[in-house]
Amino acid sequence: MDVAVIGAGYVGLVQAGGLTHLGHRVRLAEADSVKLSMLSSGKVPIYEPGLADLIERAIDNDLISFWSDNGEAVTGAGIVFLTLPTPTGDDDCADISVIEVVVSQIAPYLESDTVLVIKSTVPVGTAAAIRELLDTLGCAAGVVSNPEFLAEGNAVEDFLRAERVVIGAFESDHAARVAELYRGLPSQILITDPASAELIKYGANAYLAARLTFANSLAAISDRVGADVLDVVKGIGLDRRIGPHFMRPGPGYGGSCFPKDTRAMVSMAEAAGFDFRLLRTVIETNDWHREGIVARCVELLDGDVSGKKVAIWGIAFKSGTDDTRESPALGIARDLATSGADVVSCDPEAVTDAVPMVESPLAAAVDADLLVVATEWPEFLRVDLGQVAKAMSGDIVYDVRNLLDPVKARAAGLRYVGLGRPRV
Ligand code: UGA
Repeated sequence: MDVAVIGAGYVGLVQAGGLTHLGHRVRLAEADSVKLSMLSSGKVPIYEPGLADLIERAIDNDLISFWSDNGEAVTGAGIVFLTLPTPTGDDDCADISVIEVVVSQIAPYLESDTVLVIKSTVPVGTAAAIRELLDTLGCAAGVVSNPEFLAEGNAVEDFLRAERVVIGAFESDHAARVAELYRGLPSQILITDPASAELIKYGANAYLAARLTFANSLAAISDRVGADVLDVVKGIGLDRRIGPHFMRPGPGYGGSCFPKDTRAMVSMAEAAGFDFRLLRTVIETNDWHREGIVARCVELLDGDVSGKKVAIWGIAFKSGTDDTRESPALGIARDLATSGADVVSCDPEAVTDAVPMVESPLAAAVDADLLVVATEWPEFLRVDLGQVAKAMSGDIVYDVRNLLDPVKARAAGLRYVGLGRPRV
């Protein structure tokens, strides 16, 4: 049986590549002709570790084909995944208009036993609305919700070693057919109704964003009371009920998911008559935390940044990706530039027009009054800090990812300031 995947963004590409790894034949459709011709010539348009290999193997084994026409791509496919963009709409909720347009377009090509699987992050109730839409269009295909839990930079691993696969279906045989596709993964399969599956996706991201914001607040307190936040989160995480993961303090969460999904969840809850106060506070605290970091930069520059040179190491929203969407590093760089600082940045993968970029961490450090480590790229650990100290005109490193070794930084002649680590 062929499987169609519509939308070759990072979710679609990983889904398509992952399914071919499990032995399925995939028909991948993409509207962007540039992306499509890259893919057809064996190139992957985004940076995602392991993805290019997966797609290359699929091409070599004749398990993947690329299509510009959605109707043709879905013809004859038993299962159709929608991996389409759902950007933030006017009311902060995910805008599903692209999904609706594509569903209307492909409806005439779907068989009554085809299962349409919504993989994109969508508001609760979307699967039901799409089922109704298909019904109005006279199409009897089934609808299933199967949210993705891929983290950028680790997406291929997240697919191949998924802890869980969540399938929300109206009919049990549709759930069973989708579950069968994932046979071979070491994952727990949770079968539920579509609304619950849709809420699991938002609930997971909202919880992770809240957990992280809690850790960031602990860092802010540690800075004020003389504690070491890395020991604090370690000590808290040793409690089995809490666990050690996803509590690394940093400049705040960013990226294409947490900011968008937390706002969408607040808005969705409000529409359902519930004021999600906790999550509203998380969103506010995340912005406030980043502003606190900018304020600390100003303080480290003796209260005045104008005319001072600030080097920002890292511009991606986290390491392992070239994505700068809602990147806290970029936010810090922009805020400092707006306050009059002369900001320069570098990143092993990401590029931006928003701040001047140079090719290496050392080049960024030249004549800098302050160096901010804003993204936790391992590449920065390999930079010779002695040379950095010589190149800078000031000597302060503000490491908001707690990436560098404070002892080594100090030995190199730098004044090291971590996040939530006032005594190291
Ligand atoms: C996130 C979720 O982790 C995925 O499970 C989910 O599928 C995805 O959103 C999505 O909805 O598509 P992603 O946005 O790629 O994935 O990135 P994360 O690794 O979760 O990081 C999010 C933010 O939290 C980043 O800004 C990162 O730097 C920050 N973070 C994460 C920390 O500051 N500390 C941590 O310990 C972990």
